[in-house]
Amino acid sequence: MLRQDEISTVQISIDDKTFLLHKGESIFQMLLRQEMIFLSFCGGKGRCGRCKIRFLKGTILPSASDRIFLSPNEIRAGIRLACTARPTSDCVIELLMEEKKDTQIISGYDLSEWEHSDQEADIPKAVIAVDIGTTTLAMQLILTADGHIEAEYRKMNPQRSYGPDVISRIEADESGEGKRLTELIRDEIEKGVSFLKKKCQEKFEDKDVCERIPVVIAGNTVMQHLFLGYPTVSLGTHPFTPVDVQEHSLKILDSKTIFMPGISAFVGADIVAGIYALKLCSHENRHKVSMLIDLGTNGEMAIGNAERLLVSATAAGPAFEGRNISAMEGTDLIYVTAQLLEKEILDETGLMSDPYFDQGYEYKGSKVTQEDIRALQMAKAAICSGIRILMREYPILPEEIDSVYLAGGFGYYLDTKSAVRIGLIPEELAGKVRAVGNTSLMGAYLYGRNINAAEEVKKITGLAVPINLASQEGFEEKYLESLHFPHHD
Ligand code: FES
Repeated sequence: MLRQDEISTVQISIDDKTFLLHKGESIFQMLLRQEMIFLSFCGGKGRCGRCKIRFLKGTILPSASDRIFLSPNEIRAGIRLACTARPTSDCVIELLMEEKKDTQIISGYDLSEWEHSDQEADIPKAVIAVDIGTTTLAMQLILTADGHIEAEYRKMNPQRSYGPDVISRIEADESGEGKRLTELIRDEIEKGVSFLKKKCQEKFEDKDVCERIPVVIAGNTVMQHLFLGYPTVSLGTHPFTPVDVQEHSLKILDSKTIFMPGISAFVGADIVAGIYALKLCSHENRHKVSMLIDLGTNGEMAIGNAERLLVSATAAGPAFEGRNISAMEGTDLIYVTAQLLEKEILDETGLMSDPYFDQGYEYKGSKVTQEDIRALQMAKAAICSGIRILMREYPILPEEIDSVYLAGGFGYYLDTKSAVRIGLIPEELAGKVRAVGNTSLMGAYLYGRNINAAEEVKKITGLAVPINLASQEGFEEKYLESLHFPHHD
């Protein structure tokens, strides 16, 4: 609850509705709070130029970011960036920003490796799979007979108003907002379960069947702690010990709900779900060693098979999620960077040539800036050096690795050749890389569907050896070596 002195008297009218601006709040923050926009683009930092609004009544002086991203004509027409707009008197505005439609991208994955049959006894008719991402909450109603996705529910994670990454959520928890963070995510999941159960009833016309379908949730360890109402402080400070990463059972709207088990503070249930979904440690793949790399903020990785499994996380930063650096998605950023290297607009050290150094390079209406490239270099160096250290610790040679799976919210759309070209993946592994989409959601579904899943997943969590990359000998050298882009003639 805000105190009286935290509410300003400035009113913002949009489409005949009026909202009060909180003290110190930008219009962008107010729009997020009111759930009128769902995407935070660059996180409201004035770095992407996509949060355009037009002042229809009242105006403000243009900000430094307005002058960079808007043309003089736009500024004259009353257009400003919402994230740097802090009016001090009432105004009427119109939203010019476009919301992103990427449901398909978030959900993409491939179940073809798993057999489906409607002859199995004792399996539920459907499963509600939930992936709590730091940015996005993705839920699906999946039919167990054939793996068909009957319905989806996708929202931005409502905790995002406390910040874009896990660190900001931990800080919010520490400052006394933990209960609120728990409520926010639970309420949203409850809405999703209720929506998907209705869809289930439309499909089966049988209330009992739909009441019995299980809900299975996966998410990173911070998301798991906040969902369960655990304090997260120990996840943010050395020695990074989780309260508990066991499987948890509870009820949501009378449905049996399971939160899948995780491994450590850095390697959560979402990665366990991915390892399970990709059969990394299954008996049938015992002679193959494969890797899973989740290209999110935390860059989690796993390497192994049924006999040995190393897991790790490397703070890759937000470059792959694209929402905090520029407007560009990680997929596009990787692709464009590879193109820029080919066109020699970018050199090996990551320097953009003139005039792009100052102006940025335009692609699909967004700009790749020098700053984006630097952030991408750091992220890809963290991943690439992590891969090298894991291969060394396993130990295994690149040619002995069977497959490298790239998971993440961007689905199948990652251009794997570009990922190798920019040095995100070591060149020796080229040809083995496959983008596999949201394997967390896929694993959650399979966990609810397969009778022996809990047993198999227990083997995975028992087998996993967490590796702290930063404390490994030579990590820093490998990281520095990986900062440059690979040389090509
Ligand atoms: S410039 Fe406002 S959100 Fe990026």
